[in-house]
Amino acid sequence: MKSFTHLFVFYSFLFSLLRISITQDTITPTQSLRDGGTLVSAGQSFQLGFFRPGNSNSRYLGIWYMISSEIVAWVANRDAPLSDHSGVLKVTGDGILVLLNSTNGVVWSSNTSRTVENPVAQLLDTGNLVVKDRNDDNPENFLWQSFDYPCDTLLPEMKLGWNLVTGLERFLSSWRSTDDPSQGAFSIRLDPRGLPQVVTMEGDSIKNRAGSWNGLRFTGYPQFRPNLVFDYEFVLNEKEVYYRFKLLNTSVFSRYLENPSGVGQRFTWRDRTHTWELFSTSQADQCESYGLCGAYATCNMNRSPVCSCLEGFLPKSPKYWDSIDWSDGCVRTTPLECNDGDGFLKHTGVKLPDTSSCWYNKSMSLKECEGMCLKNCNCTAYASLDVRGGGSGCVLWFGSLIDTREYSEGGQDLYLRMAISELEHLEKKRCSDKQKLVAIIVSSALLFVGMTIVALASYIWKKKLKTQGTTQISHGKEDMELPMFDLAAIANATDNFSNNKKLGEGGFGPVYKGKLADGRDIAVKRLSKNSKQGLNELKNEVILIAKLQHRNLVKLLGCCIQENENMLIYEYMPNKSLDFFIFDQAKSKLLDWHKRINIIRGIAKGLLYLHEDSRLRIIHRDLKASNILLDNNMNPKISDFGLAKSFGGDQIDSKTNRIIGSYGYMSPEYAVHGQYSIKSDVFSFGVVVLEILSGKKNKEFCHPDHHVNLLGHAWNLWIEDKPMELIDELVGNSCTLSSVLRHIHVGLLCVQQRPEDRPNMSSVVQMLTSEILLPKPKQPGFFTDSPTADFSGKHGTCSANEISNTVFEAR
Ligand SMILES: *[C@@H]1O[C@H](CO)[C@@H](O)[C@H](O)[C@H]1NC(C)=O
Ligand SMILES: *[C@@H]1O[C@H](CO)[C@@H](O)[C@H](O)[C@H]1NC(C)=O
Ligand SMILES: *[C@@H]1O[C@H](CO)[C@@H](O)[C@H](O)[C@H]1NC(C)=O
Ligand SMILES: *[C@@H]1O[C@H](CO)[C@@H](O)[C@H](O)[C@H]1NC(C)=O
Ligand SMILES: *[C@@H]1O[C@H](CO)[C@@H](O)[C@H](O)[C@H]1NC(C)=O
Repeated sequence: MKSFTHLFVFYSFLFSLLRISITQDTITPTQSLRDGGTLVSAGQSFQLGFFRPGNSNSRYLGIWYMISSEIVAWVANRDAPLSDHSGVLKVTGDGILVLLNSTNGVVWSSNTSRTVENPVAQLLDTGNLVVKDRNDDNPENFLWQSFDYPCDTLLPEMKLGWNLVTGLERFLSSWRSTDDPSQGAFSIRLDPRGLPQVVTMEGDSIKNRAGSWNGLRFTGYPQFRPNLVFDYEFVLNEKEVYYRFKLLNTSVFSRYLENPSGVGQRFTWRDRTHTWELFSTSQADQCESYGLCGAYATCNMNRSPVCSCLEGFLPKSPKYWDSIDWSDGCVRTTPLECNDGDGFLKHTGVKLPDTSSCWYNKSMSLKECEGMCLKNCNCTAYASLDVRGGGSGCVLWFGSLIDTREYSEGGQDLYLRMAISELEHLEKKRCSDKQKLVAIIVSSALLFVGMTIVALASYIWKKKLKTQGTTQISHGKEDMELPMFDLAAIANATDNFSNNKKLGEGGFGPVYKGKLADGRDIAVKRLSKNSKQGLNELKNEVILIAKLQHRNLVKLLGCCIQENENMLIYEYMPNKSLDFFIFDQAKSKLLDWHKRINIIRGIAKGLLYLHEDSRLRIIHRDLKASNILLDNNMNPKISDFGLAKSFGGDQIDSKTNRIIGSYGYMSPEYAVHGQYSIKSDVFSFGVVVLEILSGKKNKEFCHPDHHVNLLGHAWNLWIEDKPMELIDELVGNSCTLSSVLRHIHVGLLCVQQRPEDRPNMSSVVQMLTSEILLPKPKQPGFFTDSPTADFSGKHGTCSANEISNTVFEAR
């Protein structure tokens, strides 16, 4: 019933409108518009007339939407209300709009500096009320237009900003309240000083700052994206600086409102429900508060407290700072040296600081920009003016940096001037901070693992009681038949285990080079005496390896168990291990693309043999570049796999707290949860592949521009569609694009986070040797750092796996 009445009222209202102003959008000097009458724009979008806002008793002349008359987009006499229905709008012969009251007093008027022959006032379909010559529709020649004097609403086509020639500023200002359209406390302006930026003011002070335009969006609106409703532009030249938006489909309305509480809101009209939908609203988080953290500090909503000093800066007043009064900001720990003594620290993902005293140039490159900044001792930072297409132009800051914040996405790069000595200091600190952080994570992981050991140890102890008295080992029922070497002969062959003959130190003891009396070269692995389960391990390895025969596995020649000495004798590999080659500038030149492919395939086949083809199904558990030995022809041979199996479900040597496996190669599920499967070997294999392709160690990977390890770097390049940048430049031109892409692709598939996503080794071999279609890789495991890494940490985190050397004794 009620809605029916509404409908009736609506229609009678509509008909009355049609009667009064069916086609009229214009008044001439001989006509006038009285309270009750209206003008309607030609396309029926907007209406001009008198209205009474909310609960107010005053009358105002305004422009509202035809579709929803309660939305008033513009008010003429906002600061001079009429007290009754006697208002009349006229246009004078001089082209001036006047609003008269009952005593013909001028309540409000427009103005103009020119006159024309036949002035008329016309309401355009954009919602713009203009005074112009009757026959001249050129906007350039309008005598006056309401779009030059916005109220609280930014309509499509309306400019927010400055005409720099005439000094006209167009800005939004809120209503005082929903009942009172007079100018309220809040305004949105384009501050033309320095590099122009959009600010929200409360009275005379800046409340928050959308910031400067970076080619795509305002630096303070990282979530701002192209959309289907409206298009937008930012124009900056000698004559004008403004922002405006345009509708993509003129039948879909959109408007931006600065509401009486100072919140910016964009609404779009939903035709189906005949309602305005809130499309977006200005952020109101704590970090939006202008200059909250003071100078040289940065705000981050993901941190608590939200403010922190920029790297290399300290709170100016620590006492206030600690009681969360950040307004004093931060000061440098090391003063600038000027000129040659300074460099720049790159901060990524930031909202650029206040640009009101910046200098800019649209055509300079970032390099020129840096040089320009370095030349002037007062310059404190620089950035690209336009971030599109890799960045162009230059912005320079002089003096303090105010109102910087960090975003998890959508921020931009800022280069901050620092003394070189400070930069070097920070570089070291960043890496060691990272180590500490990982140490904490790892030590809590250790605690967990430690508890598991206790449980396991007691289990094993019980089991041992049952089997005590025999030397039998789990899978060793059959007797081993393997050449036994004489200790004296081995001592002789290795110059009595001289240090000169030492090839390296494995996890279970040193490895020596030897020459037997018959001329054969051998490698002798001497088990450390302090290794508790040495004998069992030895026997296991001996039995296992003796049974495993593959061209990509190192061959065991025999063993020596005598006088407390436990040793394994292997064939000697003259070319040492893979890591000697790929991580060495000079030697890696010897590995052209063809050789690298051959090595990758060899490792894959060796591993496939261990996993699937051998009788025993071996999981290696410690595959890494230094465990891949190379023969005379650079064929890879996997070594050091025997020890793993004997550990069974117990990955820990309880005496040394040593995890079998090496950081940088361990899969996340193993390193964190101790879960091991053939897929963990696949992960390690993927790491080795990426290391071979890039010539970089995953463990020590450190990139100046970001905080990920080699896996993350490879992944980033992959999703940024420039995977070729991963390839070691020393590979030269010997590779073909498709082959390179396939190998990177396979590498990434192997290091995927979830074990079930990783292919098994038989698929890997197939992928490497045929042209079968590869699935899309997902994000790798262990590639970023902890989310607690701070702003600065984004650069310094060389690798989450860095810690291995300090916490664990990697083999
Ligand atoms: C009409 O406006 C004039 C000028 O603003 C003012 O002096 C006068 O008091 C107003 N008359 C009424 C009835 O409000
Ligand atoms: C028109 O009026 C506004 C304020 O009412 C004033 O700031 C502006 O200078 C005037 N313009 C001209 C051309 O008189
Ligand atoms: C504009 O929107 C209307 C209504 O939503 C739709 O019917 C029309 O096809 C659209 N026009 C264009 C050019 O997209
Ligand atoms: C901006 O930089 C370009 C290239 O360095 C230079 O040619 C031009 O004069 C500069 N413009 C200004 C206003 O400094
Ligand atoms: C640096 O700033 C100081 C103080 O504002 C000023 O006196 C000096 O001229 C400036 N130097 C340069 C190279 O702009």
